[in-house]
Amino acid sequence: MSIKYTTPEALIALADGAKQKAYCPYSKFQVGAAVVVENGDVFTGCNVENACYPVGVCAERTAICKAVSEGHRKVEIVALTSNADTMTYPCGLCRQTIREFGTDVTIYCASKDGSYETHDLNEMLPLSFGPESLAQSI
Ligand code: THU
Repeated sequence: MSIKYTTPEALIALADGAKQKAYCPYSKFQVGAAVVVENGDVFTGCNVENACYPVGVCAERTAICKAVSEGHRKVEIVALTSNADTMTYPCGLCRQTIREFGTDVTIYCASKDGSYETHDLNEMLPLSFGPESLAQSI
């Protein structure tokens, strides 16, 4: 049974639910993400850390990998939340991962009290490099 996108608030609530599953024994920083793909389906993810620190995966990339591995290729909206008091913004790796699957992507960045800001990928990752860029090579 797929979960369908309804509102930003509901999407942030789904990200918040995913956050509860975060595996973050090292940073203790719980992050949850929810992504909406082309048909309105929602995929959620949490951060999954590793004793070998660089191996850890962010919540957004967990969610996107779940979507892609179910056959989706277009991300339209991303919601992100954490256990911080301030807004949580996606890290650089996650911005680039979102870029692979969309250019006009709305990004809701929330704080743990549910308040949120609305941004878009072009603002967060200007002058980006993406799949089309490779077509410019010889
Ligand atoms: N983290 C995310 O899950 N997403 C981000 O965009 C920023 C950082 C995670 C990675 C790590 O598990 C923890 O937050 C602390 O950096």
